Amino acid sequence: MDMGPEKLIALALEAREKAYTPYSHWAVGAALLTEDGKVYQGCNIENAAYTPTNCAERTAVFKAVSEGDMNFSAIAVVGGEEGQTPTGYCGPCGVCRQVLMEFCNPKSFRIYVAISPEDYKEYTLEEMLPLGFGPLDLGKKVNF
Ligand code: THU
Repeated sequence: MDMGPEKLIALALEAREKAYTPYSHWAVGAALLTEDGKVYQGCNIENAAYTPTNCAERTAVFKAVSEGDMNFSAIAVVGGEEGQTPTGYCGPCGVCRQVLMEFCNPKSFRIYVAISPEDYKEYTLEEMLPLGFGPLDLGKKVNF
């Protein structure tokens, strides 16, 4: 199946419907594409103690890695007020950028920050996390 940005964004919007956001009421969805064409969806999951909250992007990454997938080519992210259609771009937070840095090639991994399948901006991970610190900096072998 050809998984272009439009399809990936539609899957992020679908994932967003599952967001658990009783505190911020800010619902985020992500769809993470593996190099072999699989998609892992994620939503943000909040917590009464606040700090254990997990972002949509990290939910998707952790689902994938826990299933044995860690070669990724792109992620789509959508966010906005719970119960409403997104009206602006919602970029991945700094913690999520760092988690992506662990598994993704900063020069080739694509991040689609979207309002809808027709309205999105495309960045590389390097553009979103310049001079990022990753496993290569510690001399580790990487999967990309
Ligand atoms: N959030 C995400 O899920 N992803 C981001 O990259 C930005 C922030 C969530 C965390 C929290 O549940 C809510 O949005 C408000 O910060």
